[in-house]
Amino acid sequence: MTDGGFTLADRLPADYFTTTLHADVRDGLGSAPRTLPPKWFYDKRGSELFEQITRLPEYYPTRAEQEILTRRAPEIAALTRATTLIELGSGSSRKTRLLLDALTATGTLRRYAPLDVSAPALEEAGRAISRDYPGLTVSATVADFETDLALSDEPGPRLLAFLGSTIGNFDAEQRGAFYRTLSHTLSSDDVLLLGTDLVKDPEILIRAYDDAAGVTADFNKNVLHVLNRELGADFDPDLFDHIALWNPEFERIEMRLRTRTAQTVKIPDLDLTLDLAAGEDLRTELSCKFRRDALTAELKEGGFTVRHWWTDPAARFALVMAVPNLKRL
Ligand code: SAH
Ligand code: AVI
Repeated sequence: MTDGGFTLADRLPADYFTTTLHADVRDGLGSAPRTLPPKWFYDKRGSELFEQITRLPEYYPTRAEQEILTRRAPEIAALTRATTLIELGSGSSRKTRLLLDALTATGTLRRYAPLDVSAPALEEAGRAISRDYPGLTVSATVADFETDLALSDEPGPRLLAFLGSTIGNFDAEQRGAFYRTLSHTLSSDDVLLLGTDLVKDPEILIRAYDDAAGVTADFNKNVLHVLNRELGADFDPDLFDHIALWNPEFERIEMRLRTRTAQTVKIPDLDLTLDLAAGEDLRTELSCKFRRDALTAELKEGGFTVRHWWTDPAARFALVMAVPNLKRL
């Protein structure tokens, strides 16, 4: 699809829902503890609910990262002189505009390449950016960054942004695999910009994931609507409580859906029946929180050297600039 400076390529395999969703639900809900990967939150409504979350008083990460970008974007543009800005899990691309403004002011940027699994969010954001930045080529890709990290091979330097602490939705093993794939995919003059939420008072963290208005609860339960629609399942979201708990051992928030009563759920497309005991949890998301030393070490192990570590004034969130190992900036 083409629209002036905007293109949208769908790189999800034709059988993405029948193969990947089926496998994720069969493996995840059929094992103990019962889990679902967070990427299935993000249909059109899920992406809209996430946008609402970013505006909640309790959900500080978006504002904290925005503060850092507001202050550091000109420096990032000067350091990288990027011709292409690639963004993984770009969603609404709202904060990205700070990078686009700085990189267009520097005069190097030619192309913005957002990648997201949520086609509606990607298309809306990409078209708006194409309208607002007339000289820019916007090449959007619908893809799953867990399995498909193929990047465009345009001349660099490329800046690859992965914002919002979405990296925290991976566990340590998934992060290791992700860094290694990414470091092999990037060239010597490319740069990684990684947004990471930091360990802090658990009370603040729990409030950020269990807001008073119940938007995060709706976001969490949205995955059940997705399974009902895509797999013909008969989950009743009202029979589940939204749970956000702090796991001190792994320093992560875990979002869960806890069934209030014993119930049987049918998932006809998978020929699966789930017998849930009263109080049983489905774990729907991990949101790992980071410390500087451990993150620097895991990036090193994954093939990246940290060059800059910027935080907001309250040190709630960090924006990390890293380069593939053995390279200079
Ligand atoms: N970067 C934005 C959005 C974060 S929400 C911000 O900082 O506010 C996480 C985004 O990642 C969503 O848009 C979601 O659709 C996308 N996403 C989650 N898992 C994904 C996957 N496996 N592959 C591609 N995109 C994914
Ligand atoms: C996208 N991701 C980093 C968000 C987070 O904070 O883990 C998703 C989210 N889940 C609940 N609230 C926001």
